[in-house]
Amino acid sequence: MTLSNDDLMHALGGTMTVPFHATGVSIDTRTLQPGDLFVALQTATGDGHEHVAAALARGAAGAMVHRQHDLPDDAPLVVVGDTLAGLTALGAYARSRFTGSVAAVTGSVGKTTTKEMLRLVLSASGRTSAAVASYNNHWGVPLTLARMPPDDDYAVVEIGMNNSGEIEPLAMLASPDVAVVTNVESAHLGRLGSLEAIADEKASIAKGVMQGGAIVLPQDSPFFDRLRAAAGSLRCEAFGSGNLLSVDEGEAGSDVAARIGGRPVRFRLAAPGRHMVANALCALTAAHALGADVEAGARALAGFAPVAGRGSRQPIQGGRATLLDESYNASAASVRAALGVLALTPARRRVAVLGDMLELGDHSRAEHEALAPAARGSADLVHTCGRWMRFLHEALPDDRRGLHEPDSAALAAALPATLRDGDAVLVKGSLGSRMRLVVDALTAMPGHG
Ligand SMILES: Nc1ncnc2c1ncn2[C@@H]1O[C@H](COP(=O)(O)OP(=O)(O)O)[C@@H](O)[C@H]1O
Ligand SMILES: [Mg+2]
Repeated sequence: MTLSNDDLMHALGGTMTVPFHATGVSIDTRTLQPGDLFVALQTATGDGHEHVAAALARGAAGAMVHRQHDLPDDAPLVVVGDTLAGLTALGAYARSRFTGSVAAVTGSVGKTTTKEMLRLVLSASGRTSAAVASYNNHWGVPLTLARMPPDDDYAVVEIGMNNSGEIEPLAMLASPDVAVVTNVESAHLGRLGSLEAIADEKASIAKGVMQGGAIVLPQDSPFFDRLRAAAGSLRCEAFGSGNLLSVDEGEAGSDVAARIGGRPVRFRLAAPGRHMVANALCALTAAHALGADVEAGARALAGFAPVAGRGSRQPIQGGRATLLDESYNASAASVRAALGVLALTPARRRVAVLGDMLELGDHSRAEHEALAPAARGSADLVHTCGRWMRFLHEALPDDRRGLHEPDSAALAAALPATLRDGDAVLVKGSLGSRMRLVVDALTAMPGHG
């Protein structure tokens, strides 16, 4: 990717101290590559302007700033009114010159997983770039766009939200050829208030779709009709159980036979659980909507591996027990999905260790209690911590009810002594519930192997 001096001036209209061109874009000196344009973003966690000198020392071609301080006169800078607006302008410029097709993925859960699957699937048809990690917000989306190699065939963008109104402007910026809604679930219910409001927010991605583009929607969602209505006259492709011919689920993954765009495909997915099958069908349907080679894409899915911290599996207690690490985050849908994977895991005893699901507002108690049937169905024993998980603890039958502690530190201290040989242990909770402490306690045990 190259941003010439002219590109930068054209996109940004600011002033440049010294002419330069960049071969990439970075907002973080720790991952900066030589030749990158360093964008000094000001966020809640810090001010990139303090790292400009370090960025240049690490080989940045230049820096985009809205404030110049403590820098030599000959430092290569492009000075703009506001660096976030500048990054957004750069993203818009990169999108306008991109000659390939853009897919944009939103939804309550499974965005990053589906984005990574699409990266693989589309790579079987042409040169493809995709967002890093979960870069899906007001800086993540423009950064992803700004980094797209202009002559690639495909780019995959992830679009997220915490509050209503956030998706539409990002969708307009990305102007996808194909927009994808993975599902509508209760994540962020506290802020949005109702599942209908969440569905409408996800559906607003349709407003950014290019003329002649398409939207890919989850046919098994109770909100399918609502999503479809919001998509207006856009071409719509549905994915879900209607695609499935057969699925053979195992502890390490699934063998799937499906029909995508009327043609049969078969693939092996090395990530267990029905939710992973749904994400794969979503990615293949999106590839079909983009006119990519679906059969080659399905073959490429064999190379998919679960994203770190979300379902990785490791032996503990010298291999006598197994840990399913889902400590990265949790919403009701992803807890149910993880319990489904626990149920598929061979074990003498299945243990679920659950911390609070956050950001559910007035729905918190009900959402936690409602996990009881799934927890009972998948786990022999359920340990919990946190204010809201107490309601699940109380909703469980006596023989499934394990420890309950006020927080993850207390549970991490109490849990290891209760483990037995042959246990499969699932650890899951919202990031703020800090279930990582439980994972650390389990993996630090003597004999961890
Ligand atoms: N389709 C799905 N339904 C339910 N849970 C899912 C689905 N896809 C992924 N998950 C689970 O949700 C969590 C977040 O997955 P991720 O792909 O990072 O989603 P997002 O980017 O939307 O936050 C993980 O625990 C993952 O296993
Ligand atoms: Mg994500």
